[in-house]
Amino acid sequence: DWNSANFIESTVQELKEKLGQDKVVLGLSGGVDSSVAALLLHRAIGKNLHCIFVDNGLLRKNEFEDVLHSYQDLGLNVKGVDAKLQFYNALSGLSDPEVKRKAIGRTFIEVFDHEAHQIQDVKWLGQGTIYPDVIESVSVKGPSATIKSHHNVGGLPDFMKLSVVEPLRSLFKDEVRRVGGELGLPPHILNRHPFPGPGLAIRILGEITPEKIRLLQEADYIYIQNLKETGWYGKIWQAGVILLDSRSVGVMGDERTYEHVVALRAVHSTDGMTADWVHLPYEILAKISNEIINKVKGINRVVYDISSKPPATIEWE
Ligand code: XMP
Repeated sequence: DWNSANFIESTVQELKEKLGQDKVVLGLSGGVDSSVAALLLHRAIGKNLHCIFVDNGLLRKNEFEDVLHSYQDLGLNVKGVDAKLQFYNALSGLSDPEVKRKAIGRTFIEVFDHEAHQIQDVKWLGQGTIYPDVIESVSVKGPSATIKSHHNVGGLPDFMKLSVVEPLRSLFKDEVRRVGGELGLPPHILNRHPFPGPGLAIRILGEITPEKIRLLQEADYIYIQNLKETGWYGKIWQAGVILLDSRSVGVMGDERTYEHVVALRAVHSTDGMTADWVHLPYEILAKISNEIINKVKGINRVVYDISSKPPATIEWE
């Protein structure tokens, strides 16, 4: 039966034979799949694997810096690219969810293509495709899927003309995690909840501004930290905060406030196709709500999403 050590040994051997002295470029997302694919390729070809990790400005608070350091500690040859302004400019004035997704996908391709061109004589594109991605014809996951859905927009960017190498193509998610653990991927990357490619952009309903991103990052940070401290993070499939596009009246001292509302979302699921809302204890919800309202200036109301999928989706956009 399946064994992660054997898988690693035979896959590294195959990759060595297939790639020889060739260079590979791979986009890291901070998620499990691209990280494990990178570690396998790194073990096979070392510095000939060139990783690119793009900061789209839509990640969780501190996430880009933390994850980039982890990648560097693992010895990966990784370039961190600050493309925040490019993404913010592309999103400026947009409020329709699908239009926002397309703008993000397009910008990612521009940034990645530019970076891939900086690597001399690169022959291969590495991807963290896993078995469920292969069998799902329409996959919504990760930068590689974003790229796929843009195949038919204009001409192909140059990096998409590279040969593709996908060392995780035959694996299920739990197997990917076992391989990652064996290869030394730290637990905070290994056990992380799924996070959508367009990131916080689809958790800010309507138009996106850097200030709204900052508010959401602060609220989300408090939420996730509390889930971790109470042991709930590991029992939940996915959790996050949504910044609503309406404001609510509140009071602070003698003053009337008119500020942002956030919704907390937490779901149990196995594959994201169906989901149940998590029955978080009231005391934990109360602590999170107080902390968000007291610490994040600009948010005066917190609500909890008690909708399951279907008919609600996990994300609000
Ligand atoms: P929904 O909201 O459709 O989400 O119930 C199901 C799962 O998919 C994730 N999701 C996305 N992932 N790009 C992604 O990479 C997207 O545009 C996207 N939209 C939703 C969502 O976070 C959940 O895990």
